[in-house]
Parts: sequence; C-alpha cells; structure tokens
Amino acid sequence: MSNVLITGASRGIGREFVRQYAADGWRVFACCRNPAAAEELNALAAASADCVTVHPLDVDDGGSVAALQAALAGESFDVLINNAGIIGARGDGLGDMNYDAWAATMNTNVFGPMRMADAFAAQLGGEKKLVTISSRMGSIANAKNRSIIYRSSKAAVNMVMACLSGELAARDIVTTVFHPGHVQTDMGGAEAPVTPADSVTGMRGVIAGLTPADNGRFLNYDGSEIAW
Ligand SMILES: NC(=O)c1ccc[n+]([C@@H]2O[C@H](COP(=O)([O-])OP(=O)(O)OC[C@H]3O[C@@H](n4cnc5c(N)ncnc54)[C@H](OP(=O)(O)O)[C@@H]3O)[C@@H](O)[C@H]2O)c1
Repeated sequence: MSNVLITGASRGIGREFVRQYAADGWRVFACCRNPAAAEELNALAAASADCVTVHPLDVDDGGSVAALQAALAGESFDVLINNAGIIGARGDGLGDMNYDAWAATMNTNVFGPMRMADAFAAQLGGEKKLVTISSRMGSIANAKNRSIIYRSSKAAVNMVMACLSGELAARDIVTTVFHPGHVQTDMGGAEAPVTPADSVTGMRGVIAGLTPADNGRFLNYDGSEIAW
C-alpha cells in the first residue's frame, strides 16, 4: 500500500486529495489545524476502513510540525503534498501594504512547506515525491495587477522548492510545484472554472507519472509547463 501525507486537508483541494487517494486504496495521513472541527474530513476517515487517519498540524508553527514528526516517526511516505495555504490580505500595494499580513502569509505559504520538507524528507520512501501546491500567480512571467502578498509568497515557495530540488535529487526525491487551476474552493470562489475533483484528478495523474526528469518543474494540473 502506498502512503501519502497531506497538509491543509480540512477542506478544498486538500480534502479532495484525501478523498481520491483513499478511494484509490492509499494510506492517507491527513493533516489539519483543528481535527475536532473537520467534520467532513472525519467522515471520510470514518468511512475509510482505517485508510485515512487525521492528524493535527499548523504549518505556521515549528513545534506543531515537530509534534507531527514525532507522532509519525517510523512511517514512510511515497508522496508529501504541501497543500496548506492562505490568500493573505487583498488590496495590498503602494500606500496600503499590510506588512503583518504579508509576514503571516509568508509564514504559512513559504516557511510552512519548508518546515514540512525539512521534517519529512528523510521519511520519503518508495515513489519519493515532494509536491507543493503553488499557484500560477507565483509566476514572475505572469506578474500583473496587485496581490503582491499572495503572488510573492508563491514565487518564494517556487524558489524554495527549486533550490531544494537539487539537494533532494541526490536522495532520489523528485520535487515539483503545481498550479492546481482556478478551483472552486473557499479560496478560489464558487464561480471558479475548475472543480476540486477535476483539479485533483489531473494533479494525481501527473504526480503518478513523475520521473526524475521532472525534478524541479513547475506544472499545471494538466501536466503542461508553467513559466517561472
Ligand atoms: N483554489 C484556487 O483557485 C487555487 C489556485 C491556485 C493555488 N491554490 C493553492 O491551493 C492550495 C489549497 O487551496 P484551496 O483552494 O483548497 O484553499 P482553501 O479552501 O482556503 O483551504 C486551505 C486549506 O489550508 C489550510 N491551512 C491554512 N493555513 C494553515 C496552516 N497554518 N496550517 C495548516 N493548514 C492550514 C486550511 O485549514 P483550515 O480549515 O484550518 O483553515 C484549509 O484546509 C493553497 O496552497 C492555495 O494557495 C488554490
């Protein structure tokens, strides 16, 4: 049985990853900030015949990551999916930048995935894939408008993963970042064109086919390349 560790699994894209991997027979370690309140995730776990377990994790907090690592010591993960993320403050720019919100967004979207890679790279085995859900909004080639807080956080996590991809390749780990599409979630909004099911089906297919030649790539959910 293959194992996957997923952050931000309480709702949205993360919870859909849990649903699909469990339906496919994977052992899923689903992490969220407040397991007691994650009703739909708990329902998935209850229906999964012990395939899905739910674990507390706040990626903002190094102590929380360390506690998860201690709880899961001895486990091995084929795939780690850094999915947890926040949009941060909107309307940020010249004259109204919210620096506290920017710092908080960097902590979640950049330091969080780094903390997880740091904690769990040694426990990647089997398929050995480190996946981070970034965004096309982090593409400098596509920079426009405002949203400096969110865009800069995703550009930064892209750079973090591109840097790690060299070091991790020496351990046979394939490191990639994904744009999930504009997806119907609390973050993406109800009018977004892509359903969570289609986004995650696409990404799971691409993840399944990743080879060492894909190390360090920035991919759309359909597998096409995204410009840095
Ligand atoms: N939806 C889109 O159109 C879109 C487009 C491009 C990229 N993305 C990226 O895709 C990922 C998932 O987004 P989504 O649309 O599913 O968003 P969402 O519906 O807002 O869900 C975000 C998830 O991240 C979790 N989270 C936030 N901060 C966390 C923290 N400090 N520690 C642990 N978990 C935390 C949330 O947990 P709580 O329930 O506890 O808040 C929730 O489970 C994000 O990285 C996002 O930037 C989304």
